[in-house]
Amino acid sequence: MNLSTKQHFQKAEREGYAIGQFNVSTADQIKAIMKVAVKLKSPVIFGTSEGERDFLGVREAVKLCEAYEEETGLPIILNADHTKSADKVEEALKAGYNSIHFDGSELDYEENIKQTKYVVQMCARFSPDISVEGELGHLAGVSKIIKEKVEIKPEYYTDPAQAADFVARTGVDRMAIIIGNSHGISIDEPKLDIERLAQSYTLLKGKAVIVLHGGSGIPDDQIQASIQNGIRKINVNTELRAAFHDTLKKVLDETDETTPYKYLVSAMDAMGNVVDNKIMLFGSANKA
Ligand code: 13P
Repeated sequence: MNLSTKQHFQKAEREGYAIGQFNVSTADQIKAIMKVAVKLKSPVIFGTSEGERDFLGVREAVKLCEAYEEETGLPIILNADHTKSADKVEEALKAGYNSIHFDGSELDYEENIKQTKYVVQMCARFSPDISVEGELGHLAGVSKIIKEKVEIKPEYYTDPAQAADFVARTGVDRMAIIIGNSHGISIDEPKLDIERLAQSYTLLKGKAVIVLHGGSGIPDDQIQASIQNGIRKINVNTELRAAFHDTLKKVLDETDETTPYKYLVSAMDAMGNVVDNKIMLFGSANKA
């Protein structure tokens, strides 16, 4: 039976696993990730930030996903990651995205509620099946290898009671929270506040699923603890970028190969290996 986008997250909640969001900006990344998702029979989320989808093309991203869905029978969720304006939400919806992350976390609390609620209503008008994610707290860092310390101040963390209020007042399906996570891989090992997550889970269970951004560089045991305490979607970008980049650089440095479909294969496979490990860790294999 084909599940709707929202039902995929409900199934993850019922069965206690997380679905990986893998950020992409090129067709070969999508191809490499699909190869692994098919092998592991896992549902998959492709995340495209505003910059990533401006490069790939919103219609192109949708059409590629549709083609892979038809060809493989595997469910694909295409998420407009960190979308900062209603115009950009509308652009993604019109192209056919089935998932929206509206990121109003830089706004003040009431303005974040107002704009997120507007987006939730806009998405519902497009289709009742579009799953919407909101965000609260401050997510530090950027999706790259950061060769210094990334400070995560106490005020960056999401307050569980405020997250519950935010969900009730906006109607979002998913809630991105900050519990010590940040974008990118810095020199410090992340330390997730699992106790704070557990408090959010108690308040949000059955109302919205909880999302962990900044999934790169977090030790496996902390990822497992986060899933045990309610995380149902985990975003990964930097580890994919690094695997692709480092392998491609090595191949180009070491060979004279000029044919893209030859020199890209190792980079795609290296990135695929990261995805394979994440899907196994997140528990979404055989859940498609
Ligand atoms: P990382 O780059 O740290 O994996 O974070 C990705 C992310 O959260 C995308 O929204």
